Amino acid sequence: MKRILLPVMLTLALGTGARGQQALPLYLRTDAPLEERVEDALRRLTLEEKVALCHAQSKFTSPGVPRLGIPELMMSDGPHGVRAEIEWNSWNYAGWTSDSITAFPALTALAATWNPEMAARYGKAIGEEARYREKDVLLGPGVNIYRTPLNGRNFEYMGEDPCLAGEMVVPYIQELQKNGVAACVKHYALNNQEQWRGSVDVAVSERALREIYLPAFRKAVVEGGSWTIMGSYNRYLGQHCCHNEVLLNDILRREWGFDGCVITDWGGAHDTREAALYGLDIEMGTYTNGLTSESAFGYDQYYLATPYLEMLRRGEVPVQTVDDKARNILRLIFRTSMNPDRPWGSLCTEEHYAAAKAIGDESIVLLKNEGILPLQADRYAQILVVGDNAVRRLTDGGGSSELKPRKTISPLEGLQTLYGDKISYTRGYACGRPLYERIEEVPESVVDSLRREAVARARRADVVIYIGGLNKNAYQDCESTDRQSYDLPFHQNELIEALIEANPNIVVLNITGNAYAMPWADRVPALLHVSYLGSMGGASIADVISGRVNPSGKLPYSIPYRLSDCAAHASGNPAHYPGIERGEVSKTMIPGSFLDGGADPQVTYAEEILVGYRWHDTQKIPARYAFGHGLSYTVFDYGKPEISDNRMHPGGSVRIRIPVTNSGSCDGMEVIQLYIGDDQCSVLRPLKELKHFRKVFIRAGERVEVEFAVTEEDLRFYDETSHDWKIEKGSFKGYIGSSSSDIRRVVSFRY
Ligand code: GLC
Repeated sequence: MKRILLPVMLTLALGTGARGQQALPLYLRTDAPLEERVEDALRRLTLEEKVALCHAQSKFTSPGVPRLGIPELMMSDGPHGVRAEIEWNSWNYAGWTSDSITAFPALTALAATWNPEMAARYGKAIGEEARYREKDVLLGPGVNIYRTPLNGRNFEYMGEDPCLAGEMVVPYIQELQKNGVAACVKHYALNNQEQWRGSVDVAVSERALREIYLPAFRKAVVEGGSWTIMGSYNRYLGQHCCHNEVLLNDILRREWGFDGCVITDWGGAHDTREAALYGLDIEMGTYTNGLTSESAFGYDQYYLATPYLEMLRRGEVPVQTVDDKARNILRLIFRTSMNPDRPWGSLCTEEHYAAAKAIGDESIVLLKNEGILPLQADRYAQILVVGDNAVRRLTDGGGSSELKPRKTISPLEGLQTLYGDKISYTRGYACGRPLYERIEEVPESVVDSLRREAVARARRADVVIYIGGLNKNAYQDCESTDRQSYDLPFHQNELIEALIEANPNIVVLNITGNAYAMPWADRVPALLHVSYLGSMGGASIADVISGRVNPSGKLPYSIPYRLSDCAAHASGNPAHYPGIERGEVSKTMIPGSFLDGGADPQVTYAEEILVGYRWHDTQKIPARYAFGHGLSYTVFDYGKPEISDNRMHPGGSVRIRIPVTNSGSCDGMEVIQLYIGDDQCSVLRPLKELKHFRKVFIRAGERVEVEFAVTEEDLRFYDETSHDWKIEKGSFKGYIGSSSSDIRRVVSFRY
């Protein structure tokens, strides 16, 4: 109630009509321009009140100004749904009965749809749920680039390519914020691993920073209009990213014109002077480990609390710094908690479940199919489902993105709904202890007995559906821990091999947020790649397996044969991943915690711009399954492309038009991808880079025409000499394809 008491009382007393508004103090007048309200409120604040705005008052809230009736900011994770309520001042869940929500698919699944319309539906639905749960800031989405398949948080992000991640994040943010809830795009920047995330110093070339790691953040800010951004835990140029002069002052503020709030990751602030001078606005979670243990310190001991106030009073940092922070925070409050026009939101509605289902449907990637799919029910009497992930609730775990869904449909339940009692189930393998414990070895006897049972039953079944993968336990798709192997855990490879032996009629479907080794892939007739799909996951999986939904997902990241085929691991040099510890454990880190900063580690992105398919194409190291790959139950043929001009003039564009026909027997969706390659350049460039894509629905037998407008922005590279973008004259190619390795047509033009 205290959140809006004074403004409501004033408004009720004075009325909300024009005359009533006129009588209100300017900062309370919702008909006044935002910046005038900000300045009026700022003028009324004391120094103490300004400083108070800049740091947490509880685990997930930062204060307003009670004296002026300015309410606090309520924040909540996460990118895939609104996290269950956490106690005011501990990391414990509050145990509410009113905070169950819709669990949406992981963002790597959203990326796998390659459909910005799905991103818009996602943002709208999650924004309505965050609003209903009275949150002013939703701590997501994440757009850190997928550099290594070992990164524990790739499932929270949107893949290996900045064009795909950028196109997909914009609609999510725009629709989310229409609810008066701020997005908090994260983790800015270079948080591409969890190992030593607390302080690893990332050494990366300016060109790779600009061409690979920043573009999705830039689109999120410049086009998405994100109202907040979360600084990452790690360092860049030796400075923590939560108060980093280059990333925050130079690039985010001055170059991109960001007018929102920079919020730390929880525990990401480490120095008062740097926090004062280098772009931080709101300090959260200091002295915690960012996930479970809470502060040994009071909020007034935060870096931007009493220490900051005292530095200001002593004139050691300019008062301008706190005025700038207070402006950004007031602007955020007026956009959110003091925005009287924001809707009321909604929770667990049919619309939200439909959105989660549609996104899940379009995210499933059919990697391989030799005809066994779709599984026709009338052809089989005994369908055996094997695997722990067929029943495990995968909304648990993974770290801060974990959710308490009101309903979830497991893959087994989804399949039972469609195939009835033809379905039988056996677990096949067991996992280690849940959640955040290290993976405990399962006794050999248990491994053997579960496998023997599965194999024996597979022999008697008509067809086997294997559902395994990773499960968001520690060290496998889980925040603060990277994977320790490229292989599937829990002896799954041996189990899959044994099942193939027992029954070659097998569909393998692994649920993961990452690529993984598939030594058996050549011997299975069908293979599906699925990310964590949330509440409606089982329904989506069953609909794709049965053919009620024609799969249309495309890989948002490459799947190498082996880890050493991946750019970050090719050299085998630990300095390139996970980095090398150079000295003393930094004073502010909690060694061995979820926020382990290590002993002054540094990681070097030696591959530079050759990340993902850029590496595979340019080094001619084919991936087992390429970025952008995904099959359908129908067939798409690409006709002869037309190009509007064989020369692009400065300031101009060329238009590439491509006819695509659905030559198969069922309707389907295809993602037409356009990659651009620079035939000759004075610097190394990837063979080709994704610059445009379009997902289209095409009825069986019909044809559509897709047109792309290629501009100078699609041709440029970042020149480290001039520290600016540059195009070199010469010939370019447009590679049009169904994936980065399935190029159907090529056009040429000059610049
Ligand atoms: C965590 C995560 C961040 C999350 C925050 C609050 O450590 O890194 O993504 O939003 O703390 O839970």
